[in-house]
Amino acid sequence: MEKILVLDFGGQYAQLIARRVREKHVYSELRPYRTPLSEIVAAGYKGIIFTGGPNSVYDPASPHCDPAILQLGIPILGICYGHQLLAYLAGGTVSHADNGGEYGKTEVAFGNCVLFDGLPRTSVTWMSHTDSVSVLPDGFRAAAATDKCPVAAMCDDDRRLYGVQFHPEVTHTEYGSRMLSAFLFKVCGCAGDWSMDDFIERTVETYRRELAGKKVLLALSGGVDSSVAAALMARAVGDSLYCVFVDHGFLRLGEPDLIERTFRDSFGLNFIRADAREEFLAALRGVTEPEQKRRIVGAEFLRVFEREAKALGKLDVFVQGTIYPDVIESGLGASAVIKSHHNVGGLPSRIGFERLVEPLRALFKDEVRAVGTALGLPREIVSRQPFPGPGLSVRIIGEVTEEKLELLRRADAIFREEIDNAGMPELPSQYFAVLTDTKTVGVKGDARSYGNVIALRAVRTDDFMTAEWSHIPWDALERAASRITAELPPIPRVVYDITSKPPATVEWE
Ligand code: XMP
Repeated sequence: MEKILVLDFGGQYAQLIARRVREKHVYSELRPYRTPLSEIVAAGYKGIIFTGGPNSVYDPASPHCDPAILQLGIPILGICYGHQLLAYLAGGTVSHADNGGEYGKTEVAFGNCVLFDGLPRTSVTWMSHTDSVSVLPDGFRAAAATDKCPVAAMCDDDRRLYGVQFHPEVTHTEYGSRMLSAFLFKVCGCAGDWSMDDFIERTVETYRRELAGKKVLLALSGGVDSSVAAALMARAVGDSLYCVFVDHGFLRLGEPDLIERTFRDSFGLNFIRADAREEFLAALRGVTEPEQKRRIVGAEFLRVFEREAKALGKLDVFVQGTIYPDVIESGLGASAVIKSHHNVGGLPSRIGFERLVEPLRALFKDEVRAVGTALGLPREIVSRQPFPGPGLSVRIIGEVTEEKLELLRRADAIFREEIDNAGMPELPSQYFAVLTDTKTVGVKGDARSYGNVIALRAVRTDDFMTAEWSHIPWDALERAASRITAELPPIPRVVYDITSKPPATVEWE
């Protein structure tokens, strides 16, 4: 299979570059800059992209790779810091710009270069740099320039080495996508035949062969990753797959039944629904401290799951829905990682499997969704928004009780329905209700009421490290508030949370 290496020098757009390459149906892998040359050679990459990064190449702490990478005969495209590093490694000079560098949209004049063939002579690019290449290395020629930056791009066609000071991977660079295509298809000679159907076929075939005769266990949470992993493994090993779903009672309205219907009825899987709702509630009785709630839910989960797994007899293989961003975040590249997610952390070693299988570890989230859709999972599962492992237990401030859970499930369902029907051009990344422990007075009919405040929360984010509160339409807020107070008699008041992260977090606990 043809593939491209995206060598990560710490740039904020590293993952985006890998995504852009995959969007062109070329499989790409993001690996740390210190990946040994021998591994790069062994992997047989058709091309290498050096990412950007925040450093200066002369900074002793800056990330460098082995200069021998230039002698491998594999085409290289350096972007931003990667462009400067390429120049430096090839014997050129990088200087600190006296003119303050370039930031944001910048017009560039392009010369002759395969990357820019067929494009207008000038166009807008996205720049973010203070250093720049001041003396070209031997064998290179300048291929683009701006007023402030004489080497906005450089190329050495003989050795197939290219550098661009700007960021072709961001949409602000007008022809960035075509430049990346030129590198992949004209320079590296890629065919662009990687697709989700291929991925499914290959994965199913591999595991069908490797896991023949094995008994396989999967912890199904109902989230996108474990659901897609289940659907994929079901196709590979069929009846040898056992899916255990621990129903802790903290999922949203209708979710446990949807999960059961999908996997037991539609997919015909060996589906074990462990109804542990009372055990979890009992374990949380009287507990109000958020971290303690999380610890208790995590520990209970392990206990219940282990019990159910042991009841199935000897199991050989554990399947986990680790996805590519989890692998990248661990910084380990290609080696095995067990996700520290509380739901599954520690399970494989506690139950003693002979093998851990992570069928989605090469895929980004939207690719995982595409696989789920291709395998016939319902839209509600494939497009499910992120949801914390401890579920509604951390969206009820204070002690968790069944009455509060019931109120929150219904308020949350009303709010989500109103947002889904509001016709927003883009849905918020996450939107939900919280049952606070603040009691307030209201008036319903002619009577005074006294009950807990429901808070509504909707945020927009790319990475959940930071998030902005969503400007959802007033009408949707109004409808949600009037329906929640009308349909749920104990709730007298609804508020909308307008704090971003930071300083707040997405969840309230
Ligand atoms: P915060 O509240 O930290 O949330 O801003 C960021 C994202 O993480 C999710 N989240 C969790 N996910 N277990 C999880 O699996 C947890 O304990 C947990 N707490 C928060 C949250 O829903 C948001 O998407």
